[in-house]
Amino acid sequence: MSVDTQKRAAAEAAVERIEPGSVIGVGSGSTVDQFIDALAASDTRIEAAVAASEASAERLRNHGIEVRDANSVSELSIYVDGADEISRHLQMIKGGGGALTREKVIAAIARRFVCIVDESKWVRALGDFPLPVEVVPMARSYVGRQLLKHGGRPTLREGFTTDNGNVILDVQGLDCAEPIALERALNNVAGVVTNGLFAARPADELLVGTDTGVQRFT
Ligand code: A5P
Repeated sequence: MSVDTQKRAAAEAAVERIEPGSVIGVGSGSTVDQFIDALAASDTRIEAAVAASEASAERLRNHGIEVRDANSVSELSIYVDGADEISRHLQMIKGGGGALTREKVIAAIARRFVCIVDESKWVRALGDFPLPVEVVPMARSYVGRQLLKHGGRPTLREGFTTDNGNVILDVQGLDCAEPIALERALNNVAGVVTNGLFAARPADELLVGTDTGVQRFT
């Protein structure tokens, strides 16, 4: 089975969890693209969605699904998103597509976070994937120096600006053994908007597309 087929299987399983008539949160990335397409092709009609990226918002609108601003909703029943890595504690590294800040905001608003991935994202320990850190542009050098002190090797994501007008530092070599502590420590560095560790607020449910079907973890 191809990776795309695994993503599709996880995405279709997530559609089964969507309550008709609800307002939902939708993440970003290729697995979420499959979710949006599967939702549109299903019989489930939602009231509206809040999207984590401009790309997801456009895809939703192209399917005739209303997109709302996060400020206009007080609660979301569910948030469906992918991940770059996810552990057995359902803690994640996200932000490979650069949408980590909006993803973290929508995850915070949602009652339930369902993560959909192909098998390659399901890891024993977080940290092989370089940790994305969104930084306000004028703080780039300062934050880079602080990341070195944390044992990381930051690289500027060249030619990339986030939907919020910031830059991304991709950081290799960080010790992610205590992900909640690391998430908090990095967020305390002045100039950091968000980092891609989703540890303090892990997913509530993980759906992994595999060659033998969808595995579910809570
Ligand atoms: C986007 O910023 C990320 O957090 C995505 O959730 C992550 O990169 C997963 O993307 P794919 O579904 O394309 O692998």
